[in-house]
Amino acid sequence: RSRDTREVRDYIRTIVDFPKEGILFRDVTTLFADARGFRMAVDQLLNPYAGEQIDKVVGLEARGFILGGAVAHQLSVGFVPIRKKGKLPGAVLSQAYELEYGEAVVEIHDDALNPGDRVLIVDDLLATGGTAAAGIALCERLGAEVIGCAFVIDLPELGGRKLLEEMGHEVFALTAFEGA
Ligand code: PRP
Ligand code: MG
Repeated sequence: RSRDTREVRDYIRTIVDFPKEGILFRDVTTLFADARGFRMAVDQLLNPYAGEQIDKVVGLEARGFILGGAVAHQLSVGFVPIRKKGKLPGAVLSQAYELEYGEAVVEIHDDALNPGDRVLIVDDLLATGGTAAAGIALCERLGAEVIGCAFVIDLPELGGRKLLEEMGHEVFALTAFEGA
């Protein structure tokens, strides 16, 4: 029996023409469902931050919750959700961002972070960077410091990495796909 040499990207399934024709949808459910794949992804997301002080992990709804929760648990720090509009029960800060058509709004509880908190933002995928940029803005509006943004997948052609780096943020992704 030979050793399993699959990498994180080998567990990601590509669905052709979802949600519409011409789109290659990078599906992480197959990664999350595999014991070895999921553990590798979570472990690798943490690697660059070994030895860094992190006060909170912030996860972006919805797929960022699955990874962010596991990352926070591994770091033994708290987890803070950034949710789509109208889902959080307490007082919130809201941040709008551009979508292909129209705009979306994400929210964070206004007491979820303290000024000076060092935050790691986690999501599954970096595409245009709109979601992550809105998440960063919310953390910074609460006075927190975003020390990194970690993703499983980068789609560099969509410009998200460039956007976040131009904003002065460090981007880490486990794998990149061209031909988004
Ligand atoms: C997807 C993905 C990222 C975001 C990336 O989430 O999980 O959060 O899009 O796109 P961007 O870089 O262009 O902002 P989506 O909003 O589709 O929903 P989900 O995570 O709730 O499934
Ligand atoms: Mg998402």
